Amino acid sequence: MDNRLFFPATQRNRLCIGDLLSKIINKNGSILEIGSGSGQHGVVFQKRFPKIIWQTSDPEIVHRQSITSWIEYENLSEKMPQPLVIDVEKIPWKIPLKILHSLQGIVSINMIHIAEWSCTLALFRESGKILNKGQFLFLYGPFKIGNKHTSQSNYLFDDSLKLQNELWGIRDIEKVSDEGKKNGFFQENIISMPANNFSIIYRKIY
Ligand SMILES: C[S@@+](CC[C@H](N)C(=O)[O-])C[C@H]1O[C@@H](n2cnc3c(N)ncnc32)[C@H](O)[C@@H]1O
Repeated sequence: MDNRLFFPATQRNRLCIGDLLSKIINKNGSILEIGSGSGQHGVVFQKRFPKIIWQTSDPEIVHRQSITSWIEYENLSEKMPQPLVIDVEKIPWKIPLKILHSLQGIVSINMIHIAEWSCTLALFRESGKILNKGQFLFLYGPFKIGNKHTSQSNYLFDDSLKLQNELWGIRDIEKVSDEGKKNGFFQENIISMPANNFSIIYRKIY
């Protein structure tokens, strides 16, 4: 059965995110993606980085079904594992040893603003336990800087998120990075991306 979902934003941002990831993914190993959604990013990045094992995950069954369908549609079943059931707050995350032992980084795209703040805390806490010195946590999405929105469209988007769930919302980079620090991450780089988004690279320092 074809359960593929189509998330329009992935079509727009996959190229620029992939370009950036190509600068930090530099060897064999695996990448764990948190909140993979439709799976469109997963299959595109698996094809772009063929030496890597791209391990997707999502707490929602419809998203995992979509990921599985995308993997089949792109003929990647031999290469790419099935999505894991990971809700960042349900710890410990269940990750196969093969992935865990070859992990070079964790990627989470457009997740932390569409989830409660406690999910950001859980993401850093668990990533901090799993990742070793030198490995990265990559976040992408809209962020506030100095607790201010960087555009009118992000301001309106934040309002619309809060109408759906008052605990959702665009996060402030400084507060996010403070959580990183508490869990052993150094904010290595902040990169301004198209459509008022940012990529943030955190590096595990111990
Ligand atoms: C806006 S979608 C982004 C999906 C995909 N990363 C993309 O950019 O197209 C947010 C994703 O975060 C996932 N998510 C929400 N809460 C989560 C949690 N507590 N733990 C892990 N993922 C979560 C959702 O199921 C959804 O797939």
